[in-house]
Amino acid sequence: ETDEADVHERALRIATEAAEAAGEPLRELHGQVETVTVKSDKSDVVTEADHQADRIITAVIRNEFPDHRILSEEGPPWEQDGTEPPNRDRNPADVDAATPAAPSGYTWVVDPLDGTGNFAHGNPNYSVSIALLEDGDPVVGVVYVPETDELFSAIAGREARRNGDRIETTDRDRLDESMLISGYDPDGSFLSHFYQESRGVRRLGSAALNLCYLASGSADATWEHDTHPWDVAAGLVIARAAGATITDERGERFELTLEDDGRAALLGSNGPLHPSLLEHLEAGRTGAETNADGGD
Ligand code: IPD
Ligand code: CA
Ligand code: CA
Ligand code: CA
Repeated sequence: ETDEADVHERALRIATEAAEAAGEPLRELHGQVETVTVKSDKSDVVTEADHQADRIITAVIRNEFPDHRILSEEGPPWEQDGTEPPNRDRNPADVDAATPAAPSGYTWVVDPLDGTGNFAHGNPNYSVSIALLEDGDPVVGVVYVPETDELFSAIAGREARRNGDRIETTDRDRLDESMLISGYDPDGSFLSHFYQESRGVRRLGSAALNLCYLASGSADATWEHDTHPWDVAAGLVIARAAGATITDERGERFELTLEDDGRAALLGSNGPLHPSLLEHLEAGRTGAETNADGGD
């Protein structure tokens, strides 16, 4: 147990160092990138800055923890789909960068740039997200915001911090006094259920940062459809350490999964708001069924 605590402490230090180092080129390239590459569709984009940040983070982690696995959104494909890495002779630099000598129970889950869309359009709302998982459980989380030099961090089971100061979720329990943040919500369910009933719903653009806003009390709840593990792993540790309740859309504890990209829905709140959020989502589902049947 002392060994584990020691790994957590070291991991927090290394994640902080890696995130701040990655923030430097991001700050420099912000508003300057000319080439935006489309990945799976027009809103899934990547830039040279994402790759630079990824290389920096991978190098810092690999240097301190050579036997840990690193799963990064912009990392090599064999880390993401679990296939065999290519022959070391053919691609030694790439393979060595991402493949641990002997795998341990530790996996780093990294989003070198969360909010690439914002970044590419010169919007300051983007972050670097780094988490450590121990046997699948997220235990350390760091989210760094280059443009404001804010560092959110936590070790599971301990307090959450922003730039060293303790942060906590709000205790608001009235929806009509609450500020909500919507993440990716393709069918607009979060917006349509809560826009009229809350003080406001914002759509900002970095899932990792949304969870930090929940953790530090500048939002009372947040919702994100189709999450990838790297979008939420670090924010999850930070938000939970700050007192947040994080479930799926039906109220079951949110479990991070690395399989098949995760693609889970996440509902996070300060806790007191959770029952009423779930009730509204449930009513929405029932209402949708009623409408489909022609009733109203
Ligand atoms: C995206 C951001 C965005 C979320 C998307 C993510 P990326 O991450 O977190 O807020 O709604 O689902 O893919 O691609 O900018 O790292
Ligand atoms: Ca992406
Ligand atoms: Ca992301
Ligand atoms: Ca990303």
